[in-house]
Amino acid sequence: MAEKHLPIAVFDSGLGGVSVLKELIRALPNENFIYFGDTANAPYGVKSAERVRELTFSVYERLKARGIKAFVIACNTATSVAVAHLREKYPQDIIVGVEPALKPAVLSMEHPTVAVLATPLTLKEEKFGALLQRFETEARVIPFACPGLVEFVERGEVTGERLHTFLEELFAPLKDEKLDAIVLGCTHYPFVKSKISSVLGDNVKIFDGSCGTARETRRRLEANGLLSDATNKGRVIFIDSSHPNEENASGSTLVKFGGEYLCS
Ligand code: DGL
Repeated sequence: MAEKHLPIAVFDSGLGGVSVLKELIRALPNENFIYFGDTANAPYGVKSAERVRELTFSVYERLKARGIKAFVIACNTATSVAVAHLREKYPQDIIVGVEPALKPAVLSMEHPTVAVLATPLTLKEEKFGALLQRFETEARVIPFACPGLVEFVERGEVTGERLHTFLEELFAPLKDEKLDAIVLGCTHYPFVKSKISSVLGDNVKIFDGSCGTARETRRRLEANGLLSDATNKGRVIFIDSSHPNEENASGSTLVKFGGEYLCS
């Protein structure tokens, strides 16, 4: 069994998982974290399920060998294709995934119309199909793939005219749908939440699953007696696969962007 002093690993294809890391730090301020952004292979959402599973396993095994007490897959795409396989191979380990926050969106009002924004691969997978089936009688759910949006976030382009035009064109088919709510089913999208609102309308409620993931991670650690007993604030090590020899990849977009986001 893992030990309490070990760090919690947080993994995404790139920067997106920083939106989950932020909530994890809020929920678990005394824990140490290793954030692994596989920026060399981003985006995942347009790759095959097999390839994303292989990449996820390789990151997991690398971090497990280094010593971690939990693995948070802060990526809807990687969760969809790999979480069940990882848990099957490593049944003793704490492996937490994310999923689109459809439940709170559906429960927010009587039979709402909800668009779930996610990567093409997330929406294609069986896991999403099962989630959809659970709620299809209680809401009108529109799965909506957003290819290309992750790349804006990876570049750090989270404001500006080009992003606005891209979103106007992307969301054109949603304009007449009278949406009540939007679910951010990709951890990159919270970075462009205000832009999404400005294009789809400020009155449309937006849901994302980061807080739920942080709560679930805390619950699993607590249940296994693995919460840190440190009283000082924890630290975060960033690993960026585009800079394999630089742990903190200083100067990389990941650290700069992550740092800014965490401070905001
Ligand atoms: N952040 C990811 C997700 O939640 C993956 C995005 C990508 O690399 O395509 O789905």
